[in-house]
Order: sequence, then C-alpha cells, then structure tokens
Amino acid sequence: MTVRHFLSLDDINADELDLIINTAIDLKKSRAAGELNKSLEQRVLGMIFEKSSTRTRVSFESGMTQLGGSALFLSPRDTQLGRGEPVEDSARVLSRMVDIIMIRTFGHDIVERFAQYSKVPVINALTDLYHPCQLLADIQTYVEHRGSPKGKKVAWIGDGNNMCHSYMNAAKLCGFHLAVACPEGYEPDADLTAALSDHVTVTHSPEEAAQGADWVVTDVWASMGQEEEQAAREAKFASFQVNHALMAHANKDAIFMHCLPAHRDEEVSGELIEDAQYSVVWDEAENRLHAQKALMLFLLGKL
Ligand code: CP
Ligand code: NVA
Repeated sequence: MTVRHFLSLDDINADELDLIINTAIDLKKSRAAGELNKSLEQRVLGMIFEKSSTRTRVSFESGMTQLGGSALFLSPRDTQLGRGEPVEDSARVLSRMVDIIMIRTFGHDIVERFAQYSKVPVINALTDLYHPCQLLADIQTYVEHRGSPKGKKVAWIGDGNNMCHSYMNAAKLCGFHLAVACPEGYEPDADLTAALSDHVTVTHSPEEAAQGADWVVTDVWASMGQEEEQAAREAKFASFQVNHALMAHANKDAIFMHCLPAHRDEEVSGELIEDAQYSVVWDEAENRLHAQKALMLFLLGKL
C-alpha cells in the first residue's frame, strides 16, 4: 500500500476532508462522553520541532496518548538533525522506528524531502509555506458553528503567509471564496494565486475583503523566522487590524478565527478576540486535538 502523507491540503480530496472532519467531530463527542479509544495502541508518533509550539505539540502528544499510543518530542538541539545529519538519512532511520512522523520546520522542501524518504506517513505541522493541520481545525470549527463552508465568503486579513496559503488551498477543497486583503508587497505566493484564481481574489483593502464575509480570519504580522521584521511590519500593517469596525462590513452572523498565538491590538483588537459573539478562537484551538486525532487515524488506515 502506498504511504499517505499530509504536507498540504492538496494531499486529500473533498470526500477525505469530510471523513476527517466528521471523525474529528465524533471523536470530540466521544471524549466528552468519557469513552476510551485505543485505536492507535502501541503506535509511536515522532514529533520534530525546529520552531516553537504550544498548540501543535500539546495537541499531537495528547491526541496520540488518548488513542493509546505515545509520542516522542525531537528537537534539533538534542538530535543529530541539529548537527547536520541529512534530512534524507534522518527520514530513513526514524521511519524504521516510529509509525508516523510530524515535522514543524522552515523550508517546505524539508518536509517534502523527508516524506520522499520516509516509509511512514509524514504530517506537515507548519512550514514557511503551509500550515494544513490548522485548517483542519478551522474547518471543523466553522462546520460546528455554522455548517458547511461551501459557497461562503471568507476574508483573510493580513500577511500572505503560510496560513493564508493553506486558506487558499481550503477555498478550492471546500468550495468557498477567499478574499485576501494584505498590504502591498505582502501578497500571497503569485503562482498559487494564479493557480487558484477561480477561488481567491487579492486586494489591498481590508474593508473590501470583509464586505459580506461569513468568516473573517487573521494571523500575526511577523511569523516565526521574521522576528527582526516586526517593527517594519507593524508600520505597514497598521490599517489591517481586525476589530469591531472591520467586522461591521461582514455579514451579521460572521465569525472570527485566529490560529493563535495572537498579538492583541496588533492584528486583532483585544475587544474583538474576547467578544464571544464573533470570536471562536478557543474552540478553534481545542479542535487541533480532535482534527489531528482524526488525521492520524486516516493516515494510518484506521478510517
Ligand atoms: N496555531 C499553532 O500552530 O500554534 P502553536 O505555534 O502554538 O503550535
Ligand atoms: N504564521 C504563523 C503561524 C503560527 C502558528 C507563523 O508561521 O509563525
């Protein structure tokens, strides 16, 4: 059987996405009911983190434990990866010892090369290009709060970054329209934008993108690895804050998401992120747990 990887949302089709989301919703209910699920007993997840994480680490590690398996945290500081052992060698060795691997790193080519040499499924847990696991949680959250996102308008306000690129892929997979609003010079990848032009439009006006939106989302202005650009970006992005004034352009029942961590009063106002009429960020964060449990079951052939 060919090994399935999850490096971007392009690795699954719409039916598989539905299966993963519906499983995530079921897993959430069964956990709340106190039911035990040992579907991944004795399975081991290897977790390689070359960047910081709170949600991703805790959700994958807890999720694997809750399914009867275990997880290993591997940092470049104390593995040979950090001393220059090639990705290709690390992939061949680790994939003989564990059952599934997740990687958070910088260049997307690193997860691609790792997957090419891995005998077991590889999950992209964030690269500079994509963050597909977050989209599983975000889609689950939208479905739980508002139903199917098909035909809806989603507004991405801010940087054309890894999260934005995964929202672009999601627009095609889920059949929604994504209106991206970013400052000049911070647009998403041009080739991806061209390839997804039926599903994505790019503007420099946050109000235009938010107009009539059902779902409004943002992310930090400087991603991990761009810390030295923080001050310059704050100046460029100042008019791109998502706040109550911007939400007034969206539909009355629009919801607000943010993958977190959030910088209050930068990309989102402190009032909006705490306003439960719009903000579903805590459900969104929790759903990382359920969505990734479903993803691991799917990739390990248990669904
Ligand atoms: N949203 C997200 O991926 O959070 P962490 O960086 O804490 O994992
Ligand atoms: N765009 C952010 C997402 C963090 C979860 C980053 O890459 O730092």
